[in-house]
Amino acid sequence: MQPAEIAPKDRLIVALDLPGVEAAEAMIARLGDSVTFYKIGYQLAYAGGLPLIGRLADKGKKVFADLKMHDIGNTVARGTESVAKLGATFLTVHAYPQTMKGAVEGRGSAGLKILAVTVLTSYDDDDLHAAGYRLGVSELVEARAQQAQVLGVDGLVCSPEEAGALRKIVGHQMSLVTPGIRPAGSATGDQKRIMTPGRAIAAGADYLVVGRPVVEAADPRAIAESIHAEIAQALG
Ligand code: C5P
Repeated sequence: MQPAEIAPKDRLIVALDLPGVEAAEAMIARLGDSVTFYKIGYQLAYAGGLPLIGRLADKGKKVFADLKMHDIGNTVARGTESVAKLGATFLTVHAYPQTMKGAVEGRGSAGLKILAVTVLTSYDDDDLHAAGYRLGVSELVEARAQQAQVLGVDGLVCSPEEAGALRKIVGHQMSLVTPGIRPAGSATGDQKRIMTPGRAIAAGADYLVVGRPVVEAADPRAIAESIHAEIAQALG
């Protein structure tokens, strides 16, 4: 599907960063038909949440399996095959060449799309240097985006601040998925590179991942709907 054809409502991905399946199912029930796309990450996946992927897919919802795989190519390829069978729509891998190559091979012709995580949005230049990298965030993000495109990866996870520059590099062939989204007035938490939903869409993001501002809200459904409205307005 071309990015322009995605409905505003389907561009919000709610991160189910919750302690267990019961809490996740309660949140899914509260959000009802207001949310069509969910993300399952480490916390829920390691607490028995993977079978939720198939259950949500059976209800017509899409699921982003944010498993951020990184291992030798063969292990990533076989793991990716298994995730494709679960019914997920997106799977993340870290943007290392061997890892991305393995994931693209494992995906084969399945409907699953591979997203490469360029640089985690909680990292700034100092964090990268402390981890032994020579490049700063923007240089590393761009280098990894180019490698991802060459290797046939379907999309990128990036901070909204990088979306505009990445769009110029990868064109519209790759989906740009941005966490680090904060509706005006919500707490930043550990995110360092953040943007409001409307500004992130205007900057070129296709999908927005929002966790705590929705799942920790007194009225999660109202927040999700206000994000949809902001997305629709930014799309014009
Ligand atoms: O609660 P918050 O909106 O900050 O959640 C953002 C979600 O996006 C978390 O599940 C986090 O793991 C994920 N994520 C991120 N940065 C990336 C990739 C994923 O924050 N680069």
